[in-house]
Amino acid sequence: MSRPTDRQKDLTRRDLFRRAACAAVSSVAIASAVRDLRLINAAAADSLPAGATDYKALVCIFMFGGNDANNFLVPTENTSTGYQAYTAARQNLSIPVASLLPIAPLVSDGHSYGLHPSCPEIASLFNSGKLAILPNVGTLDCGPIGQYKIGDVKLFKDADVYLVRLKEGFLAMSRWCTHMNGRIIWNREHWRFQCPYHHATFDRRGDLTGGQPDIDALRLYGVSFSTEGHVLVDTSSVTHRSCFQPGQAARPGSPAPGATIDS
Ligand code: FES
Repeated sequence: MSRPTDRQKDLTRRDLFRRAACAAVSSVAIASAVRDLRLINAAAADSLPAGATDYKALVCIFMFGGNDANNFLVPTENTSTGYQAYTAARQNLSIPVASLLPIAPLVSDGHSYGLHPSCPEIASLFNSGKLAILPNVGTLDCGPIGQYKIGDVKLFKDADVYLVRLKEGFLAMSRWCTHMNGRIIWNREHWRFQCPYHHATFDRRGDLTGGQPDIDALRLYGVSFSTEGHVLVDTSSVTHRSCFQPGQAARPGSPAPGATIDS
């Protein structure tokens, strides 16, 4: 690794967080590299035999002050989207790749990863299939309300969220297709979201417009608005819906309706 420049030497962990208006957005390169890890150990849970009776617990730890997630889980392959992106973003805070504790996901997303060297117990739990890592979850600050015109569609790539402003209000939609979880893309020329896997298309409200019969509208995240007038998207839970209803759109200045669930 090259020697840090003077500017890099001045970067402290506190500076890094201060520069980050929203961790889910500012940690662009790293978060992008790890986004698919949410699928990894979840696959193990899906493969449990029917009727399994052994006890399981979900342990949630809320950390005041946050967790330096990008130094906890680090992409280790030497590519421009892997360790090179990590060192470029973290500068003098980056951890030498040789110090990272390798983990072995049950399902590969094409990347390799390591954990912070102070976390051997966590690495052991992960490698024994007793722990999963769920990145990119939390509140996404999408910026000032006023920057969105009716009809605008904006991608927040690292959170896999499309934010759309309709005349009814804001919708935050999951980027994962409701057919078989292909990653959709917005085609500006055709005013459609398109799934490259089996060609489903969706309009800006997330309703199916073609390519597949009878699949649900794109899933929603809750939208609220900060006192500073920013659009906030809660990516910690997703709501399924069969089709768009006006009440699903969140309007600034009124109680955030979130998404309604229909059958
Ligand atoms: S996964 Fe999107 S159409 Fe099949």
